[in-house]
Amino acid sequence: MKGVIIGGGIIGLSIARQLYKLGYDITVVEKRMLGRGASWAAGGMLAPLAEGLVGDFLDFCLESRDMYKSFVEEIQKETGDNVGFWECGIIYPVFSEEEKSLIQKRIKYYNKLGHNAIWLDRKDIEDKGYMLGKSVLGGAYFPDDKQVDNRRLITALVMYIKKTKIEVRQFETVRFINEKNGVFKSVTTDKGEIEADFCILAAGAWSGELEPLKVFPKKGQMFSFKTKKKEELKNILYSKRAYIIPRKDTNLVVVGATEENVFFKEGVTVAGLAILIKGLLDTLPNTKDYEIVETWYGFRPATPDGFPILGKSDIKNLYYATGHYRNGILLTPITAKIMADLIHKEEESPYLKIFSFDRFKHLMV
Ligand code: FAD
Ligand code: GLY
Repeated sequence: MKGVIIGGGIIGLSIARQLYKLGYDITVVEKRMLGRGASWAAGGMLAPLAEGLVGDFLDFCLESRDMYKSFVEEIQKETGDNVGFWECGIIYPVFSEEEKSLIQKRIKYYNKLGHNAIWLDRKDIEDKGYMLGKSVLGGAYFPDDKQVDNRRLITALVMYIKKTKIEVRQFETVRFINEKNGVFKSVTTDKGEIEADFCILAAGAWSGELEPLKVFPKKGQMFSFKTKKKEELKNILYSKRAYIIPRKDTNLVVVGATEENVFFKEGVTVAGLAILIKGLLDTLPNTKDYEIVETWYGFRPATPDGFPILGKSDIKNLYYATGHYRNGILLTPITAKIMADLIHKEEESPYLKIFSFDRFKHLMV
């Protein structure tokens, strides 16, 4: 059976890998270079608790977080690459009594659900080796939140895909998805027509250009800097002002991110960087002399409720895997699994009902 996947981000590539392993003949169409969308721009945090998630979405994200270790171990075995998976935990510093009271409520809520979340006084964080800004009062500690180096993971996935018979069509843009009598038939690209038995739309923030889906871009700007020593910071520090992510085995630290409703407006701005630099210096003022390495931005695929759009569409054999917004790196293993189970076994995970595009039908024109 032949499948075409629109979008070579982390979601499209990981579904391609999963289906290929099950014996499918897969083509990935990517308008740029593989993996250079939001998936390249991201922080790589696997952080359902630091992100403050609740309800079904929390459960979905926790399941995916729990799948990560074996997911990366498999990919590392397949490619020989190290993808910088690090069970580093996340400290969530707070800067006001109001924030402190909110985060302490969140800790209680997570503890009641049986999740690991601990309050740390300022002194406890200092004892972990951090020279904190003077307004940090303390913070939450989420020991089970983690990270992967998303760029290294993308690089490994691309390496895996290039070793297989998966067809990759880079620098080719899908213009239309074609159906006949309600059944998917083909995609039309700027270079021709690709016929297939099924199609998965995984075009990230651009998915709404091809289907009437409520997916829109939320821009995020980021920068990175170098510490003097490798792994000088041992945890992610995630606050409302900025998150600070040290990369495993390196002296690189990534800082993010803005949340901007500016449609697809390109570029890093002075105002964007100023917010991030202030957030960094409020948390760790001793980083002020460190060297900036890179600045960048990306477009999160957002939806009206912040949850993804997964599963069947109204067209038979056309599926959606998009709208992962702030948690697409985290949700990669579970998305690949439930999409492959749907196509291969016609098995519908209960999450596909919860995250079906149906919930936005009343908003469609
Ligand atoms: P993308 O990576 O954007 O891939 C979609 C691809 O489709 C693109 O490569 C695009 O070129 C291609 N495409 C689009 N239209 C077409 C077309 N018509 N034809 C062919 N190709 C097409 N998530 C986390 O879990 N943890 C984090 O710490 C985190 N931090 C983030 C920080 C920032 C600044 C940003 C921007 C995002 C962050 N995210 C994070 C979110 C995460 O990056 C996304 O949810 C995830 O990458 C979405 O993956 P994707 O494959 O759907 O999208
Ligand atoms: N999950 C972090 C971000 O989207 O910025």
